[in-house]
Amino acid sequence: MPVARPAPEAPSSEEEPATGAVDADGFRRALAVHAAGVVIITAQSDGIPVGLTATSFSSVSLDPPLVSFYVDQSSTTWPWLRDADHFAVNVLASDQADLAARFARKDIDRFAEPTRWRPGPLGAPLLQDVSAHLVCLPHETVDVGDHILVVGLVAEARVHSPGRPLIYHQGRFGRFIAHP
Ligand SMILES: Cc1cc2nc3c(=O)[nH]c(=O)nc-3n(C[C@H](O)[C@H](O)[C@H](O)COP(=O)(O)O)c2cc1C
Repeated sequence: MPVARPAPEAPSSEEEPATGAVDADGFRRALAVHAAGVVIITAQSDGIPVGLTATSFSSVSLDPPLVSFYVDQSSTTWPWLRDADHFAVNVLASDQADLAARFARKDIDRFAEPTRWRPGPLGAPLLQDVSAHLVCLPHETVDVGDHILVVGLVAEARVHSPGRPLIYHQGRFGRFIAHP
């Protein structure tokens, strides 16, 4: 004989039934709660330094050593990054919020003063005073929604100052405080 089960609870008025895609505002609000480290992706393309700020950076695989980030399909930097034979991931330190904001602005030369950088071992710009940098060879790109997933094979990884990451949370830059 079938056992009577209690009816599932109806979603509260604050919860949307999980039947379709969330609305854009709810999606943004939830993602803003997720704190993320901040990187600047740089490359040299046709002899021109290019770069953009990203929080979508992530490790992917240890063997082989792969990392990834997502770039907006509408990014004007992406076509330059795509054509480059390698790129660098500059992991920002807590005092580099201005640099992060600078590499998200459209109306400026992001590499002009006060930005300080030098060409890396393969040519991609390495930003001064970052926590770490990784030099990556293109491994794979995949179109995903309105972004492109970019996966890189890490050719070089250098840590400069591990203890002071720049964090992005709810639209603001901040610092990390470890539990005692
Ligand atoms: C904190 C922060 C994180 C960002 N993360 C990303 C990201 O992960 N992917 C991306 O495509 N753009 C991201 N952006 C936007 C880019 O930095 C940049 O503003 C955008 O690509 C427009 O410039 P472009 O046309 O040169 O690409 C971020 C911006 C900020 C301020």
